[in-house]
Amino acid sequence: MLNPNIFSIPKIIIALDFCNKKSAMKLVDLLDPSIFYLKVGKEMFTILGYKFIKELHKLGFNIFLDLKFHDIPNTVFNATKAAADLGIWMLSIHACGGKNMLISAKKAVKYFKNAPLLIAITTLTSLKEKDLREIGIKLSLSDYILVLSQLSKECGLDGIVCPGQEAKRMKLLYGKKFKIVTPGIRCSTDSLFDQKNIISPKKAKEYQIDYIVIGRSITTSTNPIKKLNSIIKSMQ
Ligand code: C5P
Repeated sequence: MLNPNIFSIPKIIIALDFCNKKSAMKLVDLLDPSIFYLKVGKEMFTILGYKFIKELHKLGFNIFLDLKFHDIPNTVFNATKAAADLGIWMLSIHACGGKNMLISAKKAVKYFKNAPLLIAITTLTSLKEKDLREIGIKLSLSDYILVLSQLSKECGLDGIVCPGQEAKRMKLLYGKKFKIVTPGIRCSTDSLFDQKNIISPKKAKEYQIDYIVIGRSITTSTNPIKKLNSIIKSMQ
């Protein structure tokens, strides 16, 4: 396995989107926890719960708990505290939940020694402008991301999830410390599935993205390690 850590390239978060533990562990067992981060999302967390997180921690992995909280401030405060209690490394929250909700999440992690990075979802990479119109948003996708990223920064969040195309601008606006996490990563031969805002790993490096989230390109691959090696190589 090529070691991406010695190069200045985006770090790789593998989205463990599986419908059962056996399939997830088949992939996890191939991965080196000093190189890759794991993302546990709504599907696996709903099936396996917090015990799965504990198990992955025991194997040495840092976990991005991608539950995309979006609720009233009090509920998000308590849910964020509960998530931080699990010792996770990163947690996602929908920026469109509003200022009070974001501030509540930030308050919830304040007293944790190893608080998770709080990352706000600006927009889902499966949404295009047409989809925004359908939910009553009249801004361009780019302006919508700008509004929500500004709000997230003001509320003290550690970074945002945004489509690759916006990442370069976000880095310029908010500086190096503000983390940019980008899903929708596709190599030229990969299927898009439901993603609409995609970029290649090579572009992700060019745009100075901190973390790329890769799901189906790896989880549906017959040889995930070969695929990961080729992704890492394309970024070097
Ligand atoms: O399989 P694929 O590479 O498209 O997976 C992308 C992952 O990133 C999924 O787990 C999805 O839930 C997540 N995600 C996303 N768009 C966001 C935030 C998270 O696709 N804005």
